Amino acid sequence: MYGRLLNYEQKGQTITLRYENQTARIQVLTHKVINVFVPFASEEHRSKAIEGNKELPTAYTLDRMEDHLVLTTDSLICRIYDNLMIDFYDREGTLLCADYRGQRKPRFTPKAAFIELARQEGHDVSDTGILNHPVQCVKQLDASDCIYGLGDKTGVLNKRYYEYENWNSDIPDPHEDCFKSLYKSIPFFITLKEKGVYGIFFDNTFKSYFNFGKENNQYYSFGSDAGNLDYYFIGGDRMTEILESYTYLTGRMPLPQKWVLGYHQSRWGYDDEKTFRELAAKLRELRIPCDALHFDIDYMERYKVFTWNRERFDDAETLLADLKKQGIKAVTIIDPGVKVEKEYPMYEEGIGHGFFAKSPDGSVYVNKVWPGDAVYPDFGNPAVRNWWGQHLKFYTDLGVGGIWNDMNEPASFNGPLPDDIVFTDEDHASTHAEMHNVYGHNMAKATYEGWKSLTGKRPFVITRACYGGSQKYATAWTGDNQSLWTHLRMAIPQQCNLGLSGMAFVGTDIGGFGADTTPELLIRWVQVGCFSPLFRNHCAIGSMNQEPWLFGEETLAIYRKYVNLRYTLLPYFYDLCRECEQTGLPILRPLVLHYENDPNVRNINDEFLVGRQLLVAPIVEQGARKRMVYLPEGVWYDYFTPGNEKPQCYQGNQYYIVDAPLDKCPVFVKAGTILPKAPAQMYVGEIADPGLILDVYPGEGSCVHYHDNGEDFAYREGAYHEYLFRTDKNGELQITKLHEGYHDYPEITVRYPYRDVSEM
Ligand code: GLC
Repeated sequence: MYGRLLNYEQKGQTITLRYENQTARIQVLTHKVINVFVPFASEEHRSKAIEGNKELPTAYTLDRMEDHLVLTTDSLICRIYDNLMIDFYDREGTLLCADYRGQRKPRFTPKAAFIELARQEGHDVSDTGILNHPVQCVKQLDASDCIYGLGDKTGVLNKRYYEYENWNSDIPDPHEDCFKSLYKSIPFFITLKEKGVYGIFFDNTFKSYFNFGKENNQYYSFGSDAGNLDYYFIGGDRMTEILESYTYLTGRMPLPQKWVLGYHQSRWGYDDEKTFRELAAKLRELRIPCDALHFDIDYMERYKVFTWNRERFDDAETLLADLKKQGIKAVTIIDPGVKVEKEYPMYEEGIGHGFFAKSPDGSVYVNKVWPGDAVYPDFGNPAVRNWWGQHLKFYTDLGVGGIWNDMNEPASFNGPLPDDIVFTDEDHASTHAEMHNVYGHNMAKATYEGWKSLTGKRPFVITRACYGGSQKYATAWTGDNQSLWTHLRMAIPQQCNLGLSGMAFVGTDIGGFGADTTPELLIRWVQVGCFSPLFRNHCAIGSMNQEPWLFGEETLAIYRKYVNLRYTLLPYFYDLCRECEQTGLPILRPLVLHYENDPNVRNINDEFLVGRQLLVAPIVEQGARKRMVYLPEGVWYDYFTPGNEKPQCYQGNQYYIVDAPLDKCPVFVKAGTILPKAPAQMYVGEIADPGLILDVYPGEGSCVHYHDNGEDFAYREGAYHEYLFRTDKNGELQITKLHEGYHDYPEITVRYPYRDVSEM
């Protein structure tokens, strides 16, 4: 297709390749990141994920060989051949990723009638069943390659052998493993090889396709309906380095406010002031810590965004102020769809400025969402983002603590938005086909920036739809799951893969959104949910309420235990957020991220790490009271047994059957851990200046601990403390201050949960 490489031109860190039929560019961004760009649609990248110039001055060499060019950086060797065949090697010369040269041979050829059907739907399908895309790349697969990432896709952790599509989709049906798309489009994946690892970020917002060896075990492909071939090859020695480079490119989650890490209670159907007051009172009466109540669409007047229903909430200001006095923040939902209604200011203003998406004939495009006929703010236009962001004053004036952006795929009840609906891409007109997958991303950006300018605080934004790089603006949840054991199981790989795709702060609706939960399912879900960064119980209007006190004393007591556990671990979670801002590493991690050389962890779907130090092996099977746990290398301690007659410690690299009665979620702490903890509180800030507790586990180890006001951006000017805690072989703790810009803890309590336990 590209033909022979005729000549090339080198300018700075960009090499322009002139092939017989096409020009392409290779750019060295860092010694680990190389961009491959074919300007099919535009000469510029027009990335929505990458902001600013990410090219770092990087030394490299370019040599002409007989039949190819060799580009060498400190970390990578890239060999460029005719037909834009590119092979990437690590610095030692081990092949990481080669373009596939053979014939594509589907393992399965559909019947001619199916092929015909696909053609009628506009797909380019060969007689053997190969699906071709106008933009595409086919790369070699090795037998042992595992593939991770790609956002919120359903199914197992390792995406090898599966195929997916990136087209943000609001799918109310129970999410199945076989779904190809869901709410988010994050075109980034990591390929872990027997030896070596690399990542690819395919920066293309059009509908795109990923076939990870389903078509044939020898190769995988990615492609899209339109746009440029624009991908970043990311090399590095470890998976963590790949993620670091990916988040260097697309940005990292900024440090959240501390309260955001607390417990959130939500339900679609909490629809009046009385309900919220009763909820707050109940939570406090039953001693369930809580930092936020979420206000779903019921708070609005006929689902009009930027309104408050004054019949059911006659004094929202006082309600929110009273909740605040109890340490509870209000988080309000905002959907993008603006109701078509005369004299409704958001509608009238938006129409006046031309801020809504239009049909190709120039008329404002109308579809249906919750408010009935609705129009779509054109968030790709910076003026629209600014307009929307400044309107958030409506919420900040009321004392709202954070914004929950929903339905921003964008969803539509009256059929899908046609591809040719006109949206803006920053400074020029574009189409729905190009802007669909970044609609939620741009809405989150508008919300983050507006909130930041209005409050000066770290914005708390939740979004349902995402693109690569959305982590800069928003946290996310996995959308409308159901109260099903299969969905609790799915929560683990889904959150892990989101983390491996840069979205570090995620959560699932605890208890399940649709359908009806059971006491046992709710218990097992909170045991997972209390380790998810976003810790929220939420359910649908048609389903049974799932506040924990509705399921009897035992459920309530266990639920409370895990919410309390989360609150005692808040300093650890906050440290992980800090680490994330600096490195891009997620909070909840698959085992493979830290033990990638251990083949036993590559397909673990029912265990996860919280940071490096905690391993959680929850129960995700109805009725199970024991489970098998694989512990990777090292020594691990049972989080819950210190002080018992028989405290448990385990040698890693082994499988164990462990007890997990209903009130126990198996959690293991790695030897050498220094776990920063807090005294129990009903909400973040209940104790004005709580001391720090350090649980020091046997073994040598260290912990960098971060401490600031948990609210604003003063830390970026140095207003924080950073400590280094270190234990030597004898378990003696040394404390060093790495940075002093905040204030000291009133006290630091050091505990040794396993001091007298010798290793087994
Ligand atoms: C969507 C959201 C859900 C919300 C509902 C009503 O289904 O995913 O969380 O409760 O809309 O706003």
